[in-house]
Amino acid sequence: MKIFLRTYGCQMNEYDTELIRSILLKGGYAFTDSEVEADVILLNTCSVREKANRTVFGLVHRIRHDRQGRPAIYGILGCMATNLKEELLNDTHLDIDLIAGPDSYRQLPELIRMAGESKSFDVTLSETETYADVTPNRESAANAWIAIMRGCNNFCSYCVVPYTRGRERSRDPDGILNEARTLVDEGFRQVTLLGQNVNSYHFNGVTFPDLLEQICAIDGLRRVWWTSPHPKDVADRLIEVIADNPRICRHIHLPLQSGSDEILAQMNRPYTQAHYLNLVDKIRTRCPGIAITTDIIVGFPGETDAQFQETVKVFETVGYDAAFIFKYSPRKQTRAARDYPDDVPDEVKTQRIVALNELQQTWALRRNEGLIGTTQEIMIEAVREDVIEGRTIQNKRVILDKNPELQSPCTSYISNSPENRGAGEPGDFRSVEITHATPHLLKGHLM
Ligand code: 5AD
Ligand code: SF4
Repeated sequence: MKIFLRTYGCQMNEYDTELIRSILLKGGYAFTDSEVEADVILLNTCSVREKANRTVFGLVHRIRHDRQGRPAIYGILGCMATNLKEELLNDTHLDIDLIAGPDSYRQLPELIRMAGESKSFDVTLSETETYADVTPNRESAANAWIAIMRGCNNFCSYCVVPYTRGRERSRDPDGILNEARTLVDEGFRQVTLLGQNVNSYHFNGVTFPDLLEQICAIDGLRRVWWTSPHPKDVADRLIEVIADNPRICRHIHLPLQSGSDEILAQMNRPYTQAHYLNLVDKIRTRCPGIAITTDIIVGFPGETDAQFQETVKVFETVGYDAAFIFKYSPRKQTRAARDYPDDVPDEVKTQRIVALNELQQTWALRRNEGLIGTTQEIMIEAVREDVIEGRTIQNKRVILDKNPELQSPCTSYISNSPENRGAGEPGDFRSVEITHATPHLLKGHLM
């Protein structure tokens, strides 16, 4: 049986797809890139924003149309599976056969077998599942993701994650360190530590800064990144560990969500604008040049223009390197959906998103232009026909024109070992002079 598997959403979903591939390959299944030839169509979904739901529904209909009546097992995995199980199973147009939540991937081989006979589903949330013993089937040749914790206990009032991914649980640090060492032996030069609320990691007294420090000490590892943190858990010691370890990427994602103290309180985000700005100051003082990015929700219930202006003020003060700005949309089960009417008109949400985006583009361009003329070490991520793509230590994308020195094509993860690696493959490091900047990327040439 051949499976077509597509991922939506955050890095954690991408990582889960690597786990799913591993579990299904072990279970005797094969994969195909063709949605028409596949016997099983699996969509690993996200439920964080409304758009994701609509995209996935649209995709199911399109695939059915393209297959022109050829039967297949259709499965929805991930957050949407947990959040919308009833709707998905009862929707006769979508006609989904299989549903599996983020803690049920071990059951997938069996669920697929059962789905051939009748609808099969498992969306049980676990308090212990971390897939610690499953080796992800990794796609990237340069960076390897390691989920160090799963779930979230924060219950931000707008957010569905605590309901779809369950309670917080951290992995044993010994297992994480062994995994990172094995990855270095396999040729990976960067690891990214992942978690819904990664900096609240704790296991038998080992905290996130402790773990980060131990990971940085692994011989042969060149870069370490981590995401996504909560500002409330960015302890001074974490800032010190970043400052003292040049292997840690000079990039921190610091989701603000709103600049208004009243809205933050209604969002159940336990910090104020002043606390956040103070944190940014501390980070910039100890880690000069660090890139700071953020997430924002505009049009949270009751958000007035004056409250929105508080967010604008933070944007003007911080000058983010990048920002992901979303219109609020109520998510099923959340406290905001239950208790607060979604009363900001869509046109107002649009105006706010446009205003913030404009401001953001100016800042992102200014930050990137500041790097023109500098020399940056990039880790190559992809070698395409005419360009090479890489990232700086600030996690900024750099595009290089292809140079004769770097001829070997991107041969994917199969060749990801030091012996096989040629002059310019994903995972290699190169010095680059930055020559151009846009708000979203840098351009340069090899030194
Ligand atoms: N509406 C809009 N944006 C949301 N996010 C999470 N929940 C919602 C929602 N209900 C955004 C937050 C979060 C990012 C991943 O998605 O900004 O940080
Ligand atoms: Fe959602 Fe808040 Fe947890 Fe992030 S910290 S996953 S926004 S509940």
